[in-house]
Amino acid sequence: MKLVAGNWKMFKGPAETVAFLDELEPPAGVEIVVCPAFASLAVAVGRGLPVYAQNVHWAEQGAFTGEVSAPMLRELGVEGAIVGHSERRQLFAETDETVRMRCAAALEAGLRVIACVGETEAEREAGETDAVLRRQVAAIPRHDALVIAYEPVWAIGTGKTATPELAQQAHETIKELHDTRVLYGGSVKPENAAELLTQPAVDGALVGGASLEPESFAAICRAAT
Ligand code: 13P
Repeated sequence: MKLVAGNWKMFKGPAETVAFLDELEPPAGVEIVVCPAFASLAVAVGRGLPVYAQNVHWAEQGAFTGEVSAPMLRELGVEGAIVGHSERRQLFAETDETVRMRCAAALEAGLRVIACVGETEAEREAGETDAVLRRQVAAIPRHDALVIAYEPVWAIGTGKTATPELAQQAHETIKELHDTRVLYGGSVKPENAAELLTQPAVDGALVGGASLEPESFAAICRAAT
Protein backbone atom coordinates (compact mmCIF):
# COMPACT_ATOMS: atom_id res chain seq x y z
CA MET A 1 0.00 0.00 0.00
CA LYS A 2 1.30 3.48 -0.86
CA LEU A 3 1.75 6.14 1.81
CA VAL A 4 0.65 9.73 1.24
CA ALA A 5 1.62 12.31 3.85
CA GLY A 6 0.43 15.91 3.93
CA ASN A 7 3.07 18.29 5.28
CA TRP A 8 1.16 21.42 6.21
CA LYS A 9 4.34 23.34 7.13
CA MET A 10 3.46 26.57 8.98
CA PHE A 11 -0.16 26.63 7.82
CA LYS A 12 -3.42 25.83 9.65
CA GLY A 13 -4.03 26.64 13.27
CA PRO A 14 -6.31 24.39 15.35
CA ALA A 15 -9.61 25.68 13.89
CA GLU A 16 -8.51 25.17 10.27
CA THR A 17 -7.08 21.79 11.18
CA VAL A 18 -10.41 20.59 12.56
CA ALA A 19 -12.30 22.00 9.57
CA PHE A 20 -9.94 20.20 7.13
CA LEU A 21 -10.22 16.86 8.88
CA ASP A 22 -14.02 17.14 9.11
CA GLU A 23 -14.22 17.79 5.38
CA LEU A 24 -11.64 15.30 4.08
CA GLU A 25 -13.01 12.12 2.56
CA PRO A 26 -10.00 9.79 2.65
CA PRO A 27 -10.14 6.93 0.15
CA ALA A 28 -9.49 3.33 1.19
CA GLY A 29 -6.47 1.43 -0.13
CA VAL A 30 -3.82 4.01 0.75
CA GLU A 31 -2.09 4.89 3.99
CA ILE A 32 -2.72 8.58 4.74
CA VAL A 33 -0.95 10.75 7.30
CA VAL A 34 -1.27 14.45 8.16
CA CYS A 35 1.57 16.54 9.60
CA PRO A 36 0.20 19.72 11.20
CA ALA A 37 2.21 22.40 12.98
CA PHE A 38 2.96 21.70 16.66
CA ALA A 39 0.14 24.03 17.81
CA SER A 40 -2.43 21.99 15.88
CA LEU A 41 -1.30 18.47 16.75
CA ALA A 42 -3.54 18.01 19.80
CA VAL A 43 -6.78 18.81 17.96
CA ALA A 44 -5.77 16.67 14.97
CA VAL A 45 -5.30 13.50 17.03
CA GLY A 46 -8.33 11.21 17.22
CA ARG A 47 -10.00 12.45 14.04
CA GLY A 48 -9.51 9.33 11.96
CA LEU A 49 -6.01 9.74 10.51
CA PRO A 50 -2.54 9.16 11.95
CA VAL A 51 -0.92 12.45 12.95
CA TYR A 52 2.81 13.16 12.58
CA ALA A 53 4.77 16.18 13.80
CA GLN A 54 7.08 18.12 11.46
CA ASN A 55 10.13 17.81 13.68
CA VAL A 56 11.24 16.27 16.97
CA HIS A 57 14.19 16.88 19.30
CA TRP A 58 16.71 14.19 20.27
CA ALA A 59 16.61 14.77 24.03
CA GLU A 60 13.76 13.52 26.22
CA GLN A 61 13.66 16.88 27.97
CA GLY A 62 16.01 19.71 28.82
CA ALA A 63 16.98 23.31 28.23
CA PHE A 64 16.21 23.43 24.49
CA THR A 65 13.98 26.47 24.03
CA GLY A 66 11.56 26.08 21.15
CA GLU A 67 12.01 22.32 20.73
CA VAL A 68 9.58 19.45 21.36
CA SER A 69 10.55 15.94 22.51
CA ALA A 70 9.41 12.53 21.31
CA PRO A 71 7.81 11.57 24.66
CA MET A 72 5.77 14.80 24.57
CA LEU A 73 4.53 13.92 21.09
CA ARG A 74 3.72 10.37 22.19
CA GLU A 75 1.74 11.71 25.15
CA LEU A 76 -0.41 13.73 22.70
CA GLY A 77 -1.14 10.63 20.64
CA VAL A 78 1.11 11.68 17.76
CA GLU A 79 2.34 8.62 15.84
CA GLY A 80 5.35 9.91 13.97
CA ALA A 81 7.47 12.83 12.83
CA ILE A 82 9.09 14.26 9.74
CA VAL A 83 12.84 14.69 10.27
CA GLY A 84 15.41 16.58 8.21
CA HIS A 85 13.05 18.42 5.88
CA SER A 86 15.05 20.60 3.48
CA GLU A 87 13.47 23.72 5.01
CA ARG A 88 14.95 22.64 8.34
CA ARG A 89 18.31 21.93 6.71
CA GLN A 90 18.41 25.18 4.70
CA LEU A 91 16.70 27.70 6.99
CA PHE A 92 17.44 26.27 10.45
CA ALA A 93 20.93 24.82 10.07
CA GLU A 94 19.87 21.19 10.41
CA THR A 95 22.81 18.89 9.63
CA ASP A 96 23.17 15.20 8.79
CA GLU A 97 24.26 14.66 12.38
CA THR A 98 21.23 16.38 13.94
CA VAL A 99 19.00 14.50 11.50
CA ARG A 100 20.57 11.26 12.66
CA MET A 101 20.06 12.16 16.32
CA ARG A 102 16.45 13.24 15.83
CA CYS A 103 15.61 10.06 13.88
CA ALA A 104 17.23 7.82 16.47
CA ALA A 105 15.45 9.45 19.41
CA ALA A 106 12.08 9.41 17.67
CA LEU A 107 12.40 5.72 16.76
CA GLU A 108 13.61 4.85 20.24
CA ALA A 109 10.51 6.53 21.70
CA GLY A 110 8.22 4.55 19.40
CA LEU A 111 7.44 7.22 16.83
CA ARG A 112 7.44 6.48 13.11
CA VAL A 113 9.75 8.66 11.01
CA ILE A 114 9.69 10.23 7.56
CA ALA A 115 13.34 11.20 7.02
CA CYS A 116 13.90 13.66 4.18
CA VAL A 117 16.79 13.81 1.71
CA GLY A 118 17.33 15.67 -1.55
CA GLU A 119 19.79 17.75 -3.53
CA THR A 120 19.64 21.48 -4.26
CA GLU A 121 19.56 22.85 -7.78
CA ALA A 122 23.24 23.87 -7.54
CA GLU A 123 24.19 20.38 -6.36
CA ARG A 124 22.29 18.77 -9.25
CA GLU A 125 23.88 21.12 -11.78
CA ALA A 126 27.33 20.37 -10.38
CA GLY A 127 26.70 16.64 -10.85
CA GLU A 128 26.71 16.05 -7.10
CA THR A 129 23.23 14.53 -6.71
CA ASP A 130 24.53 11.03 -6.15
CA ALA A 131 27.13 12.10 -3.60
CA VAL A 132 24.64 14.26 -1.69
CA LEU A 133 22.08 11.46 -1.52
CA ARG A 134 24.74 8.99 -0.39
CA ARG A 135 25.91 11.34 2.37
CA GLN A 136 22.40 12.16 3.59
CA VAL A 137 21.12 8.58 3.45
CA ALA A 138 24.21 7.30 5.31
CA ALA A 139 23.15 9.39 8.32
CA ILE A 140 19.67 7.86 8.50
CA PRO A 141 19.19 4.92 10.88
CA ARG A 142 17.85 1.59 9.61
CA HIS A 143 14.50 0.80 11.19
CA ASP A 144 11.15 -0.79 10.25
CA ALA A 145 9.29 2.33 11.40
CA LEU A 146 11.26 4.65 9.15
CA VAL A 147 10.61 5.69 5.56
CA ILE A 148 12.68 8.09 3.47
CA ALA A 149 11.23 10.97 1.47
CA TYR A 150 13.18 12.07 -1.60
CA GLU A 151 12.50 15.76 -2.00
CA PRO A 152 14.71 17.48 -4.58
CA VAL A 153 15.02 20.98 -3.14
CA TRP A 154 14.58 22.62 -6.55
CA ALA A 155 11.13 21.01 -6.83
CA ILE A 156 9.75 22.14 -3.47
CA GLY A 157 7.13 24.85 -3.73
CA THR A 158 8.41 25.80 -7.18
CA GLY A 159 5.92 24.02 -9.41
CA LYS A 160 8.93 22.21 -10.96
CA THR A 161 8.36 18.52 -10.45
CA ALA A 162 10.95 15.86 -11.05
CA THR A 163 10.03 13.84 -14.10
CA PRO A 164 8.75 10.37 -13.21
CA GLU A 165 11.97 8.93 -14.71
CA LEU A 166 14.18 11.20 -12.63
CA ALA A 167 12.23 10.36 -9.47
CA GLN A 168 12.45 6.65 -10.25
CA GLN A 169 16.22 6.92 -10.75
CA ALA A 170 16.80 8.82 -7.48
CA HIS A 171 14.57 6.38 -5.58
CA GLU A 172 16.54 3.44 -6.99
CA THR A 173 19.78 5.05 -5.80
CA ILE A 174 18.34 5.56 -2.32
CA LYS A 175 16.94 2.03 -2.13
CA GLU A 176 20.35 0.60 -3.02
CA LEU A 177 21.71 2.39 0.04
CA HIS A 178 18.82 1.90 2.44
CA ASP A 179 16.26 -0.93 2.31
CA THR A 180 13.13 1.11 2.92
CA ARG A 181 10.07 2.65 1.36
CA VAL A 182 10.81 5.94 -0.43
CA LEU A 183 8.24 8.71 -0.87
CA TYR A 184 8.56 11.42 -3.50
CA GLY A 185 8.03 15.09 -2.55
CA GLY A 186 8.23 18.33 -4.50
CA SER A 187 5.26 19.99 -6.23
CA VAL A 188 3.11 16.85 -6.17
CA LYS A 189 -0.36 17.87 -7.41
CA PRO A 190 -3.53 16.02 -8.41
CA GLU A 191 -2.45 16.46 -12.07
CA ASN A 192 0.96 14.78 -11.73
CA ALA A 193 0.37 12.39 -8.82
CA ALA A 194 -0.62 9.34 -10.85
CA GLU A 195 2.42 9.39 -13.17
CA LEU A 196 4.79 9.76 -10.21
CA LEU A 197 3.04 7.22 -8.01
CA THR A 198 3.00 4.53 -10.69
CA GLN A 199 6.81 4.45 -10.83
CA PRO A 200 7.83 1.14 -9.25
CA ALA A 201 10.33 2.69 -6.82
CA VAL A 202 7.94 5.45 -5.71
CA ASP A 203 6.19 4.15 -2.60
CA GLY A 204 4.14 7.23 -1.89
CA ALA A 205 4.23 11.00 -1.70
CA LEU A 206 5.06 13.77 0.74
CA VAL A 207 2.83 16.64 -0.29
CA GLY A 208 3.15 20.29 0.72
CA GLY A 209 0.99 22.96 -0.92
CA ALA A 210 -1.50 20.57 -2.51
CA SER A 211 -2.21 18.93 0.87
CA LEU A 212 -3.76 22.12 2.26
CA GLU A 213 -7.14 21.73 0.51
CA PRO A 214 -9.18 18.61 1.35
CA GLU A 215 -10.24 18.01 -2.26
CA SER A 216 -6.76 18.26 -3.80
CA PHE A 217 -5.25 16.15 -1.01
CA ALA A 218 -7.99 13.53 -1.45
CA ALA A 219 -7.37 13.50 -5.22
CA ILE A 220 -3.67 12.77 -4.66
CA CYS A 221 -4.58 10.04 -2.18
CA ARG A 222 -6.93 8.49 -4.74
CA ALA A 223 -4.12 8.53 -7.31
CA ALA A 224 -2.13 6.37 -4.89
CA THR A 225 -4.77 3.63 -4.60
P1 13P B 1 5.32 21.28 -2.17
O1 13P B 1 4.42 20.10 -2.43
O2 13P B 1 4.57 22.51 -1.76
O3 13P B 1 6.29 21.49 -3.29
O4 13P B 1 6.20 20.90 -0.89
C1 13P B 1 6.85 19.67 -0.84
C2 13P B 1 7.35 19.45 0.52
O5 13P B 1 8.27 20.11 0.96
C3 13P B 1 6.69 18.43 1.34
O6 13P B 1 7.41 18.17 2.49
